[in-house]
Amino acid sequence: MHPTSTNILNPSEMDDVAADDTCIQCHSQGRPRAGLIDGKAYDWPESYHVGLHLADYWKLENITLGQTDFFHYPDGTAHKNRMQGNDFVQSVMYRHGVTCASCHDVHGTDNYAQLRKPADKPCLDCHGPGSPNGPHETTVEEHTHHKAGSAGSQ
Ligand code: HEC
Ligand code: HEC
Ligand code: HEC
Repeated sequence: MHPTSTNILNPSEMDDVAADDTCIQCHSQGRPRAGLIDGKAYDWPESYHVGLHLADYWKLENITLGQTDFFHYPDGTAHKNRMQGNDFVQSVMYRHGVTCASCHDVHGTDNYAQLRKPADKPCLDCHGPGSPNGPHETTVEEHTHHKAGSAGSQ
């Protein structure tokens, strides 16, 4: 189908889960719900396309807390590459509607990792001193134990 402004799906017009699914289809480790498809094992969410519900097609790898396995460290964080989705869905931020696109602009930016802002800025938008989202110290120094503006404070 020839792409036009009427048939290109825009994640910014979707609900949070569908918008994140757009990214997580590639940025995650998992396996197809359907198991083998025509006798083949797929390492990507075969048959999913943007706008559908990714979890119907793709099961993220299981986590066993306290154990290092192929995919995870004992605290449940990623042990392999391409696991940003596996990590992010565990965050309270995912449940509160923060999305990949809150921090990244995949059309490209001048910042590292296509971040909307330089890496030491995006967190403070929502986690500045006194924010209800925490941290609950009154200054950045108290939280990081590093001088503001120093390398450690990043
Ligand atoms: C079709 C698969 C696919 C989709 C969909 C996708 N990505 Fe990626 N993304 C990749 C691949 C592959 C790379 C690594 C590219 C490279 O190293 O050149 C990448 C790289 C990135 C990077 C790192 C760029 C850098 O400069 O290091 C970011 C950030 C990123 N993607 C975010 C996203 C976000 C956010 C979304 C959803 C809006 C998304 N991606 C959707 C496949 C995808
Ligand atoms: C709250 C902000 C935030 C959200 C939400 C977020 N990221 Fe990121 N992401 C970052 C930051 C900051 C970095 C840079 C980390 C660093 O300095 O190593 C990054 C780095 C990355 C990278 C590059 C990793 C590398 O090693 O080059 C990829 C890919 C990526 N994010 C994908 C995603 C995807 C996909 C999602 C959603 C599932 C997501 N991010 C959600 C802030 C965020
Ligand atoms: C768009 C707003 C927003 C941005 C940007 C943001 N956060 Fe959050 N963050 C939240 C909200 C909302 C919560 C949930 C607060 C609560 O319920 O107590 C949260 C919770 C957290 C938590 C608690 C643990 C968990 O499971 O999520 C951590 C840690 C955290 N954020 C780190 C970060 C870091 C690091 C960055 C920057 C890379 C960042 N946040 C950027 C809004 C944001």
